Amino acid sequence: MRLMKTIALPSGERIAALGQGAWNIGDRRTTRAAEIATLRRGLDLALTLIDTAEMYGDGRSEQLIAEAIAGRRDEAFIVSKVLPNNASRRGTVAACERSLKNLNTDRIDLYLLHWRGSVPFAETLEALTALQRAGKIRHYGVSNLDLAEMKQWWGTAGGEATATNQLLYNLSRRGIEWDLLPWLRERHVPVMAYSPLEQARLFRNAKFAALAKASSITPAQLALAWLLAKDDVIVIPKCSNVARVEENAAARDIKLTPTQLAELDKIFPPPTGPRPLEML
Ligand SMILES: NC(=O)c1ccc[n+]([C@@H]2O[C@H](COP(=O)([O-])OP(=O)(O)OC[C@H]3O[C@@H](n4cnc5c(N)ncnc54)[C@H](OP(=O)(O)O)[C@@H]3O)[C@@H](O)[C@H]2O)c1
Repeated sequence: MRLMKTIALPSGERIAALGQGAWNIGDRRTTRAAEIATLRRGLDLALTLIDTAEMYGDGRSEQLIAEAIAGRRDEAFIVSKVLPNNASRRGTVAACERSLKNLNTDRIDLYLLHWRGSVPFAETLEALTALQRAGKIRHYGVSNLDLAEMKQWWGTAGGEATATNQLLYNLSRRGIEWDLLPWLRERHVPVMAYSPLEQARLFRNAKFAALAKASSITPAQLALAWLLAKDDVIVIPKCSNVARVEENAAARDIKLTPTQLAELDKIFPPPTGPRPLEML
């Protein structure tokens, strides 16, 4: 079997380059069984990183993941996030405890600040380092921090141990390539690309769809293969259907040619200057 692509965290630990997003799951009783089956099929296919947050369905996404990974906890690498409003010294610890309970586990593999709020970074970092020392989280990081915020976080005690910045990144959202991605790259901090399919909106681009067709792959596979071609980007598409998770997993076996990559640059040009960070 082909070796699955992994990405090194700054600690040296290697994790799956392609994982599974879990926003908007666990909300409806009618779709629950399919969502659980999809996550479990993803685990079978070594999509071991599962991304959630206390915000998603107010804990319902975490609870559904608990069901999906029951009996398979050690296979999974669980990412969850604390809301900025909860990110005080005590609030972060309390939020983490709630997430651990929802996830029915004794540790979160990677715990992120979901975006910047009004709590000083020093307080959040104090809590994150304490949680790490206590073994409740194994790594910590951030999400949606722009370059200025990232520099400030990095300059705060504990900030240099950041394992990732989870950012909106896909073919139609390439702004981070100008400055934030290179800055993180210099420090060996991988980016975790969220909404890699632009929540399926990418597929509406006729030129993009035509390129996928001409390449005999699906549009989702083209979008994911483009991100997976990078050395230090972790990709977390969300889906709730077994056939689609199989389709997405197959993107790991696709190596885009320089011609295909150049075509994609024409359809979705890279940035030519700094842009404000986009988020969803
Ligand atoms: N840190 C943050 O602020 C932040 C923000 C947004 C997202 N995220 C994380 O990133 C994850 C992914 O982002 P996302 O959920 O926003 O969007 P996404 O992964 O770009 O797109 C998800 C959508 O694409 C569809 N889809 C998946 N695979 C497909 C395929 N092979 N063919 C056709 N359609 C397909 C899904 O449909 P079905 O579900 O019907 O299968 C769903 O509607 C989230 O779930 C979450 O974990 C983080």
